[in-house]
Order: sequence, then C-alpha cells, then structure tokens
Amino acid sequence: MPKILVTRRTFPEAAEKLRASGAEVVIWDGADSPTHDDLVAAVADVDGLYAHITNAVDAEVMDAAPNLKVITEFGVGYDNVDVAAANARGIAVCNTPGVLSESTADEAFALLAAMARRTYDLPQIVKRGEWGDFDPLGYLATDIHHKTLGIVGMGRIGSEVAKRAAGFNMNVLYFNRNRRDEEFGATYVDSLGELLERSDFVSLHNPLNAETTGMMGAAQFKLMKKSAVLINTTRGPVVDQDALYDALSSGEIAGAALDVTVPEPLPADNPLLTLDNCLIMPHVASATGDTRMKMAMMCVENVLAGVAGDWPPYCVNQAEISGNARIKAQGSVRSQRSP
Ligand code: DGY
Repeated sequence: MPKILVTRRTFPEAAEKLRASGAEVVIWDGADSPTHDDLVAAVADVDGLYAHITNAVDAEVMDAAPNLKVITEFGVGYDNVDVAAANARGIAVCNTPGVLSESTADEAFALLAAMARRTYDLPQIVKRGEWGDFDPLGYLATDIHHKTLGIVGMGRIGSEVAKRAAGFNMNVLYFNRNRRDEEFGATYVDSLGELLERSDFVSLHNPLNAETTGMMGAAQFKLMKKSAVLINTTRGPVVDQDALYDALSSGEIAGAALDVTVPEPLPADNPLLTLDNCLIMPHVASATGDTRMKMAMMCVENVLAGVAGDWPPYCVNQAEISGNARIKAQGSVRSQRSP
C-alpha cells in the first residue's frame, strides 16, 4: 500500500479521493506547516509527497525518502522544490498549471485598480470620520483607462492580465524571454528597461529563478516613472525589498501592491508596513474556493498517478527523468500536459 504525505490540511473531497485509492494517507495536522526537520522525519516511508509553498523540498528531504516517486506542488510555482535534485534521483515533480491563471490575474488587476482609484486608502478616511467637504482638487486618483500597463512575463497569467487590461482600454506592453505568437493586443518590447520607462503600472508575472531573483532593484526603480505603481503577484524574491522601500519612501515610484513578500508571513515590524503607498496582501492570488479546490484535485491526480507508477498528468520534469524515473509507467502512459 503506497503512503502519501499531505503537508497541510486539504479539502475533504481531496482527502476522500486520496483515501479511496487505497493509499495510506497522512495529512499534516500541525497548526503551521512542518519545519524542515519535521518534513525530513515525516517522509521516511513515503511514496508520494503533496507539498506546499512553505516546504523546502530539497535533496535532504529526498534522501530521507528512499521510496519517493512523486512530489506534487500545490501551486503553479515550484521554486521551493529542488528540481535538479529530483532529476538526479528520478523523482517526478508536478504542479497545478492553468487553473489559477485567471484568479491570479483577477487579483493582480484588483491590486492595480485599488492603487489607481484609491479604494485602498480612501475608505480609511471615511471610517475615521475625516471625509471633508467636497473639494474639486481633493482625493484625486489616477485613471486606469488609456494608461500604460507593462507586463513582465507573458505566460498564462500575464496573458490573462493583458486581456483584462484590454477591457479597461489600457495600452499594454510586455517583456518576455521570447516574443509570443499570440499577444492579446499587447506590444512586445525587447528590454525590461524600456518597459519600465514607458509604463504607468508594472505587473510582474515571471517565475522565480536565478535570473529573476532581485530583478527589480534600485536601478530598475530609477527607470520607472515617478508616478508609476509596481504590482507583484509572482514571488517575493523577484523584488529587492530594501530598494523598494527606498523607492517608495523617496518618491522614486508612486506605489506598490504586493501579494508576495520576503519573508512570508511578513513580520508586523517590517518597514514596508509603515508606508501609506504600499498595499500588502497575504499571498492569496489563487485563494478563491473554486480555484483552490481545482488545485487540490490536480495535486490528487498527480500524486495518485505517481504512486501507482503512471506518469502524473502535470509533470514538469518528465523529459529529464524518463531514463531513470522511479516511476515505472504501468499500462497506458498518460500524455504530458505542458506546465
Ligand atoms: C502559485 O501557484 O504559485 C501560488 O503562488 C501559490 O503558491
């Protein structure tokens, strides 16, 4: 009987489906995510690992789990999993692509709108009883329509943001490693610098990797318009937060809205939280009931396929491990869907 570890609570429907497979299912029931030591101890006899962003699934975890065949990440980003280590050990790594693109784009756009139209700060004035007499020059916001949105990373989520921006009559620029065949009305620019110089809003949608860590630093904020707003719904380390604090407090840029930070959770004494022009959300871009349920069910599909010896449907390293996979494909091999 294969054993599956789920490192955080999940929907009853997902737990039920895992158990119905006949596998032994252990669902971590700590108030918080397992620590790294907890994880190393808990994976000893595990065949399938259903992991979350708070788990660093590194070589030490993998070496503590000699039976491990499959790791599924609850999310599209899997930067917390050491894929090179998994490749070396023949372990399949999977994620949940596609289902969260629209929810994430909705949130990115909601953050953009909140910063532009001040639905972020003006309600506080009303609540405090400070709503003053009508003033033609008071409480001025920024239009969304006809402003320029710069999208960094035109993958699934970036494309959904571009579609939303088109509906708001925005001009959309994008910067991506490769120019896209389908551009959703957006205009390609071939340098990040040009995008930053021309945009009123900059929304980040590139994955976190060695190349994108610290991608937005002091030099990049200098290139942005003083009136520009940064939106980050990808991963915290893409932005140098000290440089962001300096840019926001010195007026180098007008505002920032972050769904992701370093660290997470962000401690209450973090300097960014002292700023009126910085809106911070607790990493919730995919957190709608419908989307999180779909993500959970994709994780279930991935992990059940992997422990049964089939290729998981959302495997990101099938090509890399097919020669030495711990999964020995049984029966019909399911076709890989692109991540
Ligand atoms: C994702 O899917 O990458 C979300 O940020 C959740 O981790």
